[in-house]
Amino acid sequence: MAGRTTIGLDVGTSGVRAAELSFGKRGVTLEKFGQVALPEGVVRDGEVADPAQLTHAVKQLWAATGFSHKKVALGIANQRVVVRQVELPWLPAKELREALPYQVQDFLPMPVDQAVLDFHPVEDLTSPGQPRMVRGMLVAAVRSVVLTNVNAVQRAGLSVTGVDLTSFAVLRSMAEQGAADSDVVALVDIGAKVTNIVVHRAGVPLLVRILLLGGQDVTDAVADAVGLPSAQAEALKQMPQATGRPHDELVTAGRAIDDSAAVFVDEVRSSLDYFSSTNGGAGSVQRLVVTGGGSRLSGLVERLEAATRLPVSVGNALQSVELGRTGLSDEQLSFVQPLVAVPVGLALGADR
Ligand SMILES: Nc1ncnc2c1ncn2[C@@H]1O[C@H](COP(=O)(O)OP(=O)(O)OP(=O)(O)O)[C@@H](O)[C@H]1O
Ligand SMILES: [Mg+2]
Repeated sequence: MAGRTTIGLDVGTSGVRAAELSFGKRGVTLEKFGQVALPEGVVRDGEVADPAQLTHAVKQLWAATGFSHKKVALGIANQRVVVRQVELPWLPAKELREALPYQVQDFLPMPVDQAVLDFHPVEDLTSPGQPRMVRGMLVAAVRSVVLTNVNAVQRAGLSVTGVDLTSFAVLRSMAEQGAADSDVVALVDIGAKVTNIVVHRAGVPLLVRILLLGGQDVTDAVADAVGLPSAQAEALKQMPQATGRPHDELVTAGRAIDDSAAVFVDEVRSSLDYFSSTNGGAGSVQRLVVTGGGSRLSGLVERLEAATRLPVSVGNALQSVELGRTGLSDEQLSFVQPLVAVPVGLALGADR
């Protein structure tokens, strides 16, 4: 493994996963990828509810995968993260960062001293006779929530070199592939309970939305409708015919899937409508790219296409990297393909 490598660690509702990247003459190489399932309830609504179990799973992940070191960039996505476009007086990047706490309180629903702040400049704004301004994405996360995640990971013996918004990780791993075009694209990473939406043009984020919705809601709907425990409802959702359940259960499950998928698709569509009506001239979204395990739901791509009347494709972050000796078979690689977008993007953004 050549040179320094970076590792991105994604704490999802259904599991923890990490990707190690190396950076060489041939470009970026995926050296290792691993994941360990999390029991239900360890992560709730994107927040860690049972830190000890998370620590345990991260230790298992490191014991099983053979990462070359223990420094990680960690992803954060929950509803107590505020992401919005703001305009601030222009300053050089480092000074702007230092001045943030004094400049952004008015934009935040929480006291600034209880928040972890980040700012991603998007555009310099200059007009004659006006002070120079900079427009960008302000990210504010509740400090205690971030610290719970960081502490649980540190207790597993890792050191956290950075914390990044999961949405930006998706943007980083997906945007490069379409960097040449100027389409307004919505990246939609569909997890179990969290869906990250990033609307961007040529890699510049225009809107970030974090929805507390995902594949687990569909599973729960099937479990309720058919009266089955979660694991069996999951199987019924993923491979209805293979479960051998009676015909009337398949019909009931099918209806539950239809209804919950319709709710999900509607939420995504209204986020995109919100973007069209508020973006101040950046235009409307022209196409969607989906990632995350939830994007595997049979028929979901077609439903999104019908609801948005836009082309929808399945994103593959593995196309942004060379494949090293990951030890993963082709079958395993195709299974993990929707799941690598976040950890790969976190590793791409990590300090080297
Ligand atoms: N073949 C499939 N068909 C339908 N759904 C699937 C399939 N495979 C995985 N899923 C769904 O993907 C979801 C998990 O996706 P993912 O692993 O991206 O979520 P996560 O990162 O653990 O959670 P989150 O991001 O919400 O915290 C589950 O709800 C699961 O049911
Ligand atoms: Mg996820």
